Amino acid sequence: MGFYERRILPRLLDCVMSNRELRPYRDRVVGAASGEIVEIGVGSGPNLPLYDPARARSVAALDPSPPLLAMAHRRREEALVPVELVEASAEALPFANGRFDTAVVTWALCTIGDPARALAEVRRVLKPGGRLLFVEHGRAPDAGVARWQARLTPLWRRCSGGCHLDRPVEELVRGAGFQLETLATGYMNALKPFTFMYEGTARN
Ligand SMILES: C[S@@+](CC[C@H](N)C(=O)[O-])C[C@H]1O[C@@H](n2cnc3c(N)ncnc32)[C@H](O)[C@@H]1O
Repeated sequence: MGFYERRILPRLLDCVMSNRELRPYRDRVVGAASGEIVEIGVGSGPNLPLYDPARARSVAALDPSPPLLAMAHRRREEALVPVELVEASAEALPFANGRFDTAVVTWALCTIGDPARALAEVRRVLKPGGRLLFVEHGRAPDAGVARWQARLTPLWRRCSGGCHLDRPVEELVRGAGFQLETLATGYMNALKPFTFMYEGTARN
């Protein structure tokens, strides 16, 4: 890991992901999580204070980035439910089959190297009938915007720590075998290639 990935990128990500416009998505997705929860790609931990202790019993939150996990450790102090932080990759979850009631993933499927494998792992660690709650940005339905997403992604990936603008989120979730229960999509603001959002719930 070079200087940029170790020192600069984590602070940039923390700053971008603390954007106030993301907060309503976080409140809806994270606030609905219940029981034993696994959070995939926790980053600097902006979701940790948002788990509702009336529903959530505990959270196991993982990320492969040590500098981001160090920031998440500080945010853990604001959490209202017990949180375990784990250095791990979503493609190989270090948890037993069927351990969790809910999986939460917010803006991480864009960056995970093999999102199909990660979602298969999420299914494995969820109980039968367990829920996946997600909000992600991804491929836009408008051909012109999608073309820009494909053009920008090779450069964007290099400066953003691996983020893809054009992942087909609905296809990925369905393709992993989840049953999609709700899905709301739409642009968040005028930066269309970066902000086509998929917010949903899916059942294992
Ligand atoms: C844009 S950030 C989002 C962080 C956080 N979920 C949030 O909502 O602010 C993407 C996150 O995915 C993480 N990530 C990248 N590859 C991953 C992998 N293979 N498994 C799990 N997380 C990964 C990154 O380290 C980073 O924390």
